[in-house]
Amino acid sequence: MSVQSAIKRKTAPDIRARKNGEPIVMLTSYHAHTAALVDRHCDVILVGDSLGNVMHGLETTVPVTLDMMILQGRAVMRGSKHALVVVDMPFGSYEASKEQAFHSAVRILKETHCGAVKLEGGVRMAETVAFLSERGVPVMGHIGLTPQSINTLGSFRAQGRDAGSWDPILNDAKAISDAGAFSVVVEAVAEPLARKITETIAIPTIGIGASAACDGQVLVLEDMLGLSPRTPKFVRRYGELGPAIEAAVKGYADDVRSRAFPGPEHVYDMKKS
Ligand code: KIV
Repeated sequence: MSVQSAIKRKTAPDIRARKNGEPIVMLTSYHAHTAALVDRHCDVILVGDSLGNVMHGLETTVPVTLDMMILQGRAVMRGSKHALVVVDMPFGSYEASKEQAFHSAVRILKETHCGAVKLEGGVRMAETVAFLSERGVPVMGHIGLTPQSINTLGSFRAQGRDAGSWDPILNDAKAISDAGAFSVVVEAVAEPLARKITETIAIPTIGIGASAACDGQVLVLEDMLGLSPRTPKFVRRYGELGPAIEAAVKGYADDVRSRAFPGPEHVYDMKKS
């Protein structure tokens, strides 16, 4: 047995089996080094197309390309060992036809070696989800607020606030589950609807801004670390790395400007001690 095959990574079926079980812990990562940290505590690492906002300062995820996703997916696979790595299919790489989706998903799986892909959309994407799942591509769905559709939605608003608007979102959840997805992200959906979806469908729901009534949770790493310039209201902060990084950078800049920067003698002394 090779060293690599001795490492047991979580799989899509492992996550599927967590329905109504221990909550699924998922975070985003786009780099090898953050992936190594996240990997110690999370079941799933999402290489989200939010990398467009977080890494590249884009206003929306619409401009993100398949090549961008594959590059960061490879970095995250290098940095992690245990978590299931899911790579987002970016806008324009899967909506035209189920065949287009299959070609894009195959590129992602072959070039990154990740364990699954994620795509946005409910009823309208169900046929594609079934096509991919039947052909060996594990799919995580994404319903509720779907950021790639920002240009038709008009704004990033919570969905399903009044019971009259529940049906389309519930139907999306059922369609994705019935099509063979192994789990589904439910974004910005009011708590009673998130609960109803979770109770109704057979696959785990992973909430983001959708209350604790889901089978798991996902956050964007930089949002929960206090590193993003703008964060949605529902995000609980678990760190304040923005100010910590700025203080470190300022300390460095002050040292350089006051010529207090350690020289080679200092480094040499450190080595001796
Ligand atoms: O791209 C992303 O980070 C996501 C999460 C917000 C679920 O899709």
